[in-house]
Formats: sequence, structure tokens, C-alpha cells
Amino acid sequence: MSSSTTTSNVLLIDLHVKYIQSLDKKRDTLEYWITEHLRLAGVYWGLTALDLMNHVDALDRDDVIAYVKSCQWPNGGFSGHVNHDPHLLYTLYAVQILLIEDAIDAVDVDKIVEYVSDLQDKETGAFKGDEWGEIDTRFSYSALSCLSLLKRLDAIDVPKAVEFIMKCKNFDGGFGSTPGAESHAGQIFCCVGALAIVNSLHLVDGDLLGWWLCERQLKNGGLNGRPQKLEDVCYSWWVLSALSILGKLHWINKEKLFEFVLSAQDTESGGIADRPGDMADVFHTVFGVAGLSLLGYPGLKLVDPVYCLPKHVIQRRGLAERYKV
Ligand code: FPP
Ligand code: ZN
Repeated sequence: MSSSTTTSNVLLIDLHVKYIQSLDKKRDTLEYWITEHLRLAGVYWGLTALDLMNHVDALDRDDVIAYVKSCQWPNGGFSGHVNHDPHLLYTLYAVQILLIEDAIDAVDVDKIVEYVSDLQDKETGAFKGDEWGEIDTRFSYSALSCLSLLKRLDAIDVPKAVEFIMKCKNFDGGFGSTPGAESHAGQIFCCVGALAIVNSLHLVDGDLLGWWLCERQLKNGGLNGRPQKLEDVCYSWWVLSALSILGKLHWINKEKLFEFVLSAQDTESGGIADRPGDMADVFHTVFGVAGLSLLGYPGLKLVDPVYCLPKHVIQRRGLAERYKV
């Protein structure tokens, strides 16, 4: 379903800012309520996109901080919304939002560190997403990114965490969600990003993986996440961030990708969709904008490919840039 029929060959920043601001004002829609469990993720996606587009103030800072605080549990973890269960992913998003707002001291950091480190399996080094125990390389990334942002990697067994990630590496150079699972660009971002955070990029087969990643670009310029799948704007992030960390961003056709992402914009109501003609959402909006930022699109702030945060946030935090170029 599409709500916009025209296309634009420039990034419609003002319209996207209005779209992100409008998301919290749709309380009379079903979509607003069925996405309640991931509202904190929505704030991270929206705020990151706004900051990259030079409009971080479009969301009220005090409201954002108060909302994040309302999602923290006594065990230190954060949930996707008030009264939902805490999860590692939302704990990362909370830390990312607070760092964008330069307000990490508003929450109990020691408790966050305790929550994250308790989720590591001492035998395998893998991370559970929450108390229910699902294991996935998304959670390894979330834990390493979160603790690195908090400068508390000392709280976990890093060599064991790396050992688990390397068990998820495949013959094609890519990584999957668990040992033996097929390579997928989203998981590749997670594994390459996690390895970059702990200075272990030498374990990645850069040339082989670089080939796999650049083969994700299809004729229309868009990128897919696995062979035989449709192109999708969010893979402008998952694929490009990994290529960027490996110093191989120039292996894809930048102009064609610009064209594809820009053609997925909603030119009437703002926002970017997964592909042209579909409904826009904030997830594809941030990853479209972040992909454009990685490629140096004019007028955007630079994004850090490892932490998926504006680079100035990483610099303000005094964290090293952890990629080769
Ligand atoms: C594909 O999403 C993406 C992944 C499997 C990687 C997700 C990674 C995280 C949640 C870790 C935290 C990430 C950041 C940027 C801080 P999908 O299958 O939902 O996308 P799709 O359905 O649109 O293809
Ligand atoms: Zn997508």
C-alpha cells in the first residue's frame, strides 16, 4: 500500500522530521497500540534519524529522558515500554538514546552493567536476550555495544563472547544468528560490529565477506539481506555498515543506492519505506538515512558504522573509531 505516488531525487529532510514528530501523536490509530512493546526502539530510531538530519531538538529532551527512565526495571534492564518485560535489546536502545541526549547519568549505570553481564552464558560465552534464554548474535552485539558505550567491558568474559561469535561464522565468510545458521546481512552487521568493538577484526575474512556483501546490490541499486531475497532499504544499513567497517564501502555503486533509497521516500507524509510504493515506517527511515550518511550524502551528519550512532556522540564519549580505513 502506498500513500504517495510522486518520487523525489533529494532527501526530504523537513518532511521526515515532521513525520518522526508525528509518530507520538497517532494515539487514535491501531498501529500505535500494536507497536507499544517496541516504543523505546522507535524513540532510538527516530532520535538517531533526527540527529543525523541535524534536528535532534525536534523531540523534547526532558520528555525523552523521562520516558527512558520510566522503562528501567529494578534489575537494571529496560523494556520496550512501561510495564513490559526488560530485554537486552531495549537496554542497548536506552543507553544509545541517553548518550545522544548526553544524559547517561540520569539512570543507574551499575545496575545496567549487572543486568547485561548476568545474561552471558558462562560456558559458551553467548548472550541471552532476556530471562527466557533465547540466544542470538544480535544479543552478543547488543551486550558488547552497550558495555563498550558504558566503558564497562571488564564486566564480562570478552574472549568467550568472541569464541561464540566465531562459531557463527560460515564458509561464505558471513555470520548467522547461531552456530550453523545461514549468513544474513543483519547478523553480519552484529558480528562484525561486535568484533570491531573488541579489536578482533583480524578474525574476519575481509575479502570473502566483502564479496558476499557487495553481491547484495541488485540491478535497481537496492541491497538485499541474503541471496534470492528482495531489496530492502534497511539493508542499506546492515550491508553498508559491515562494508564500511571492513573499509570496502567503495565496492558498491553509491549513486544507484542513493537513487533506490530516495525513491522509497513518502513524498507526501514523510518517512522512508522498505521499498518504493510501500508504507513508510521509522525503522526503515533511520536505516535509510544512516545508509545515506555512511555514503556521505550532503547535509547529513556522519554516522558511526559500529555503534549506529552519530559520530559526534561517539567522539564526545571519548570512544575510539573501531573500523579500518
Ligand atoms: C534484519 O531485521 C536485521 C537484523 C537481523 C539485525 C538486527 C540487529 C539488532 C536488533 C541489534 C541492534 C541494532 C542496532 C542498529 C543498534 P529484520 O529481519 O527485522 O528486517 P526486515 O524484516 O525488514 O528484513
Ligand atoms: Zn527491512
